[in-house]
Amino acid sequence: MEKRPQTTLILAMTADGKIADKQRSAARFGSIADKNHLEKQIALADGVIFGAGTLRAYGTSLSITNPELLQWRQEQQKPLQPVHIVGSASGKFDSQLKFFSQPIPRWLITTEIGAKLWQHKPEFERVLVIESPNTKPNPSHWEVTLNRLKQLGINKLAILGGGELVASLFQENLIDELWLTVCPLILGGQNSPTPVAGIGFFQSQGIKLQLLEVIQIEQEVFLHYLTAECGPGIPLEQNN
Ligand SMILES: NC(=O)c1ccc[n+]([C@@H]2O[C@H](COP(=O)([O-])OP(=O)(O)OC[C@H]3O[C@@H](n4cnc5c(N)ncnc54)[C@H](OP(=O)(O)O)[C@@H]3O)[C@@H](O)[C@H]2O)c1
Repeated sequence: MEKRPQTTLILAMTADGKIADKQRSAARFGSIADKNHLEKQIALADGVIFGAGTLRAYGTSLSITNPELLQWRQEQQKPLQPVHIVGSASGKFDSQLKFFSQPIPRWLITTEIGAKLWQHKPEFERVLVIESPNTKPNPSHWEVTLNRLKQLGINKLAILGGGELVASLFQENLIDELWLTVCPLILGGQNSPTPVAGIGFFQSQGIKLQLLEVIQIEQEVFLHYLTAECGPGIPLEQNN
């Protein structure tokens, strides 16, 4: 049996491969069909995870409201909403964000320092510490963390971005599937984030994908990929 949850990354990007504009504001360029697609993927999951940058940009998370999806979860004897998990080394974000009044279970994955800000408070049902003080988790910590999530009942995890969190997970080869929605828009600019941030991989070490499905709905294209088993990508600086 797998030690970690099965993981699916779901992102919308522009035709020039950007997931947000140059101000890193919340990405609202997807259509209703894209929102429905995201909600369906969230409904399939026991937990969804996103980076603190995404939380700061949106201030909220997408809960399931579609009655058919809610009924499906009930029939599957799943809680109506998956757990919404924030990844944040600093633990620094505003407790007044709308996210904290949404009727969803919330967990935090953070460092010891970040945990001090939220432990024994009502905002997060669970605070998981994955690293020593002051530092971001080192490369092998996400695997340990995902194993812990599986022990806590998260068998299927939806990864909702942003690029920095996604880069950390790709670096450890922890993403099994991808759904990328290509939206009919160009944003351009070096400062506009892309699906995978970090320092990047050499071409020879890039994460290889297998295309499973291509679905067109009006002006958008939904690309469904499987990641091929190719070992962890080696970051550029370790190759120098
Ligand atoms: N188009 C889309 O589908 C989509 C989806 C999601 C997000 N977005 C966009 O993406 C942008 C945000 O992306 P982003 O790359 O800036 O931020 P992000 O990946 O959402 O979050 C980055 C933050 O998450 C935490 N984090 C990331 N990797 C970590 C690691 N390995 N260990 C511990 N903490 C880690 C850190 O939090 P701390 O700073 O607290 O330490 C880091 O600053 C926004 O503009 C948003 O609109 C677009």
